[in-house]
Amino acid sequence: MEAILLVGGQGTRLRPLTISTPKPLLPTAGVAFLAHQLARAHAAGVTRIVFATSYRAEMFEAAFGEKAFGVELDYVSEARPLGTGGAIRNAARALRSEPDDPILILNGDILSGHDVRAQVALHTGADADVTLHLTTVEDPSRYGVVTTDGDGRVTAFLEKTNRPPTKQINAGCYVFRRSAIDGIADGEVVSVERETFPGLISSGRLVMGYVESGYWLDVGTPQAFVRGSRDLVRGEIASAAMPGEPGERLVLDGAVVSPRAVVRGGTTVGRGAEIEGGATVIGSILQDGAFVAEGATVRDSVIGRGARVGAGALLDGAILGDGASVGPGNELCGGLRLWPGISLPPTAVRFSPDA
Ligand code: GTP
Repeated sequence: MEAILLVGGQGTRLRPLTISTPKPLLPTAGVAFLAHQLARAHAAGVTRIVFATSYRAEMFEAAFGEKAFGVELDYVSEARPLGTGGAIRNAARALRSEPDDPILILNGDILSGHDVRAQVALHTGADADVTLHLTTVEDPSRYGVVTTDGDGRVTAFLEKTNRPPTKQINAGCYVFRRSAIDGIADGEVVSVERETFPGLISSGRLVMGYVESGYWLDVGTPQAFVRGSRDLVRGEIASAAMPGEPGERLVLDGAVVSPRAVVRGGTTVGRGAEIEGGATVIGSILQDGAFVAEGATVRDSVIGRGARVGAGALLDGAILGDGASVGPGNELCGGLRLWPGISLPPTAVRFSPDA
C-alpha cells in the first residue's frame, strides 16, 4: 500500500524548537519523530510513502533518503503551502496506485497506536471513498467533532463548539480511494477538514468512520510533544524505532549522567549531553550536547541542542532553544520559552525560605 505523509507545516506552536528543525524531524525518544511513524507504517503494510513537504523541505530527504524502515520514500514539495488538502492533491502525482486502490494519509505530528490494517479493511469492505480514523477524547470542545450513523457512516463535521454532540474527533489518519484524491482542486490551497470532507459528505459520497480509542496523541504543542517522547521512552506506546529498551530513561551514546543525579520519568538524554550530580531531571528531553548543572531541577521540559541549565536553576514545562543558557538560580515555569542563543544571567537574589 502507498501512503502520503503530510509534513509541510511550520510547527509554530513548537517554536523555538521548529526554527531550525521542522516538527516531524524533532528528536523524540532519541530519533526523529517521523522514525516512529515510518516504523509503524511499515508494520501496517505500507511499502511506499510520498512526503508532502513545504517548510524546510530539503531536510526530510537529507534525513531519510530513498528508503527507511523498509519503506520506499519519495518527496514532493509545494512552492507555497497548499494546506492539508492541497498538499495531498499535489503529492498524489508521485503515487503509482490504480484509481480504486486505497491510499493511506498520515499527519506528520500524530502518534497513534490504532490498528491501521483494520481501518483499511473497513474502508475496502465498505467500498468507501474516504475512511477516517476517529478517536474519542474526554474534552472534545477543543477539536472539531465528527458524527456517525449506526452503520459508521460519517454524517457531519462540526467546528469547535462548547456543546459537542459527540466525543468523537478526527484523529488525522485517513484512507482515500485514489480517485477521490483526484477530485481535490489542483494547485489550490485546500483544507481537507474544512472543505474536502464536508464537500464529499454533502455530495453523497461514502465517508466512513473507523472508531478506535487506543493510544493517540497530537504532538503539536510543547506539553504534548514532551509527553509523546516520555510515553515512547517508557513503552506506553511501542515503537520499533526506539534506540533502546523501554524504561525510566533513555541515555544515548556519549551522554554523561552522574550517579548522583536523579533522571527518570521517561527522560531522554541526547548524545554528548551531561547531567551533573545532585541534579534532578524528570520526564524531559535533553537534546544533543545539552548540559544540566549540579542541583538543578528540570521537569517536563525540552533543553535544545547545546543549551545549558545553571546550578540550582528550576525548569518546569519550559523550552530552551538551541544554545540558550539559564544562569544559576533562575526559575522558568509554565510554558516559558527561551529563544536560541539567549542567555539569562545568574540571579542576584536567591530565594531562601528562611529569609
Ligand atoms: P502549527 O503551526 O503549530 O499549527 O503546526 P503545523 O504547521 O504542523 O499545522 P497542523 O498541526 O495543523 O498540521 C497538521 C499536519 O499537516 C502536520 O503534519 C503539518 O506538517 C501538515 N501540514 C499543515 N499544513 C500543510 C501544508 O500547507 N502543506 C503540507 N505539505 N503539509 C501541511
